Amino acid sequence: MLDYPKSPPENVTLHPCRARAIRTPVRKRWARFGPLTIEFSDEVLQPRPWTLEQARWAAELADTAPDGRIVELCCGVGQIGLAFGRMCVDRGRPRDLVLVDADTQACGFARANAARTALGTDVEVRESLVQKAFRPDETFSVMVADPPWVPSGSTGRYPEDPLWAIDGGPDGLDIARSCLASVARHLQPGGSAVLQLGTDAQINALIPELDETLEVAERRSIPGANGILVRLVLRPPADQGPHSWQAPEAGPPGDNRSRPIGPSTFDDEEADTTCTDH
Ligand SMILES: C[S@@+](CC[C@H](N)C(=O)[O-])C[C@H]1O[C@@H](n2cnc3c(N)ncnc32)[C@H](O)[C@@H]1O
Repeated sequence: MLDYPKSPPENVTLHPCRARAIRTPVRKRWARFGPLTIEFSDEVLQPRPWTLEQARWAAELADTAPDGRIVELCCGVGQIGLAFGRMCVDRGRPRDLVLVDADTQACGFARANAARTALGTDVEVRESLVQKAFRPDETFSVMVADPPWVPSGSTGRYPEDPLWAIDGGPDGLDIARSCLASVARHLQPGGSAVLQLGTDAQINALIPELDETLEVAERRSIPGANGILVRLVLRPPADQGPHSWQAPEAGPPGDNRSRPIGPSTFDDEEADTTCTDH
């Protein structure tokens, strides 16, 4: 089935990646993902079956996490976040869900998949860079993140995959750093984040960059998976109980790649919902 995404508004200059999304005809495909039927195309990353484990782990963590919304960063066509949301419903703790991705086509599929999944809770798809997706006061009980994690020099090993969906910059961690900055700023005390990366070595590389806000609680390797999962939690200051802890104020706008992972920035004026920056 061929379909064309919506035309852009008049007089808008598009990021080249978004322009591609609007030019390209889309041949829809379908995949089973755990309990869900997911719509996607060759222009976005195809659902990878092993990543259902990320949804399962997040749902387990949500059982004991505080009340509140859940979110998936870098959601692609939304299957991990939607499976997570479905499992929360099935486990008796339905949650409102936010899905974030910078790619126009991926967000279109995520909306269609959300409509089909019909969780019975509020599901919002935000077409945005992770770095600009949230208001300062927004918090989430459990956060899931699946950033591109392939080092730029190795993306040629995955010729079938769209470059912007897998290219994580020189060490593969550029967007992961942005996700962690968002987690540090928007995770509720007592909640958890489950981040997907490529290798144990990538987790080890990020640990020294974590500031006083976050700590690694657990890692999980999934047999046969091309990827690894890591759970992060907020680290309360040593002299304060977890309930008195407040997220630090956001730092000045700018590139956070070379700084320790910390609070993200959000600026209504600058808010940009175009495409990825990799
Ligand atoms: C590895 S794919 C994951 C997609 C989906 N969650 C999955 O597992 O199939 C990474 C996704 O991140 C999105 N992305 C890349 N950079 C981003 C950014 N800075 N902000 C938001 N989304 C971004 C891409 O569009 C892509 O859909």
